[in-house]
Amino acid sequence: MTTLASHTPSVRLAEGWALTGTITLAVLAASALVHVAAGGGTDGFRAAIRLTARTSLVLFLMSFAASSLARLAPSPLTRWMIRNRRYLGVSFAMSHVIHAAAIIALVRADAALFWQLSTIGSVVTGSTTYLVIALMAATSFDAAVRWIGPRAWRSLHWWGAWYIWVSFVFTNGKRVPMSLWYLVPVALLGLAVALRWMASRRMA
Ligand code: HEM
Repeated sequence: MTTLASHTPSVRLAEGWALTGTITLAVLAASALVHVAAGGGTDGFRAAIRLTARTSLVLFLMSFAASSLARLAPSPLTRWMIRNRRYLGVSFAMSHVIHAAAIIALVRADAALFWQLSTIGSVVTGSTTYLVIALMAATSFDAAVRWIGPRAWRSLHWWGAWYIWVSFVFTNGKRVPMSLWYLVPVALLGLAVALRWMASRRMA
């Protein structure tokens, strides 16, 4: 049903591909802001890397837990999440593209500092996760779903989501010895799994 509200610009920006555009621009603007606030240079790039790791996590969790939340707690918000699950997923990929751009800027500004923060192992595992994210984003269009078929699509997106989940647990978990605050994202990732489990039990 078409309502007056569905015509307002703010509502249009929060739905579909426009939502992906809005979120991408917001993450880009926030990254530029933290870069400047940190004094620019390598500190600025590091601030943008950390910010985009966090925005990516929030966007990933929203699409990862959307259907479970809609089943367990139906509300306008959870219905919006499920309706826009694909667009939140692609927004997550865009946020991670900005993570990559800030990493490349850091490498170009100070490669030695980058290698103090990373290992060959973390670059290989991180790049593999990027490959999974790229495959999922590239198949987030109706034409791609038709092309690979619904079975392959479901399988790719199911395994891909879990692969990304493990990557987030690992990348946050390994930082817990540096700061206990990293337990917050790890707990949120655990909560998302608990929600999926509770939703699947309710279905059974
Ligand atoms: C080749 C790929 C990647 C590279 C080279 C890379 C590099 C980095 C670097 C250098 C930092 C530290 C920034 C700092 O402390 O100043 C960082 C932070 C982080 N990255 Fe990435 N990253 C990659 C991919 C990923 C992926 C795929 C994920 C998750 C799915 C991820 C999640 C994180 C997280 C959670 C942080 C910590 C953010 C925080 O401090 O809150 N990264 N990354």
